[in-house]
Amino acid sequence: MSEPVNLHEYEALARERLAPMVEAYYAGGADDEVTLREAPGAWQAMRLLPRMLVDVTALDLSVSVLGERLAFPVLTAPCALNRMAHADGESGVARAAHALGVAQVLSTMASESLEDVARATPGPKWFQLYCYKERALTVDLVRRAEAAGYRALCLTVDVPVLGRREREVRAGFHAPPGIQIANLERYGAQGNALPGSEGASGLASYVAARWDASLTWDSVTWLRSITKLPIVLKGVLAPDDAARAVAVGAHGVIVSTHGGRQLDTAISSAAALRAVVDAVGGKAEVYVDGGIRRGTDILKALALGARAVLVGRPYLWGLAVNGEAGVVRVLTLLREELALAMALSGRPTIASLGRDLIV
Ligand code: GLV
Repeated sequence: MSEPVNLHEYEALARERLAPMVEAYYAGGADDEVTLREAPGAWQAMRLLPRMLVDVTALDLSVSVLGERLAFPVLTAPCALNRMAHADGESGVARAAHALGVAQVLSTMASESLEDVARATPGPKWFQLYCYKERALTVDLVRRAEAAGYRALCLTVDVPVLGRREREVRAGFHAPPGIQIANLERYGAQGNALPGSEGASGLASYVAARWDASLTWDSVTWLRSITKLPIVLKGVLAPDDAARAVAVGAHGVIVSTHGGRQLDTAISSAAALRAVVDAVGGKAEVYVDGGIRRGTDILKALALGARAVLVGRPYLWGLAVNGEAGVVRVLTLLREELALAMALSGRPTIASLGRDLIV
């Protein structure tokens, strides 16, 4: 195949390139995968009402995200063990994001340490945090993220326990040889490899043993008390939770279904976004992920009030197909498609995207 012309073609190529166990892990969703399947269609189903005779010779796609200017409104979402997709790993993703002027959200479950990834580029990065039962370990991760220059903590709130991804179970998912949860390496006894066993997900047993299922709103208050970094809660769907996030001092929320990997048949993030934006009422920044495959999807998310979107699987496809260069290409496609959609809808700036664009 010649160079893919859209993200769907990257997905198809990546499926051929990835080892079956890794593909099962990245592609899979919870249970019957209803939420996973519905995500892209929920964006596609929204209809646009473009305006005409607007001068679109000069487009400005840039946005400010927690006070940081991004060239266009995209961040790479935290996804585990990027080196399973390609040896370029999380550093390759960091370089690609930096080349395009966007930001990376690095996973706790990265296959390179947060320090190594921070050294790869000066580009803006957030650190995604899972809370370990061992609070001292969690605090140490926060201190390391601060010391390495991460600009925000992205606390994932939708994994009190791991969703049951049957593809992952069937594949007996575990970390391939030579790939580890690098951020955890120094804590030895806590374990940094995912145990594998036939007919079970190694991640599921890892999460059950180590992550703290007792997190509550008080835990967010606790996290705020130990760090000055802005806190963004990832995995908010209910408007009341969004309002609560603001009340406990979160600087942002990410409307997300965790890629359809947690509660199956949960509302799509596209459908949840509008009410979350209204509940937050401008008191924090709202982001969204899930099923973003086209520039028009980004246009709709921003029209509904999101500040920026996160993309997860698409950059993994780019990484699988062509390493760092593949991620550059995937991000470039999204930027070019967004620019085209803005021009064709008569909205030359991000500020000009409003709800009147959606019918
Ligand atoms: C981990 O966060 C996963 O969704 O697999």
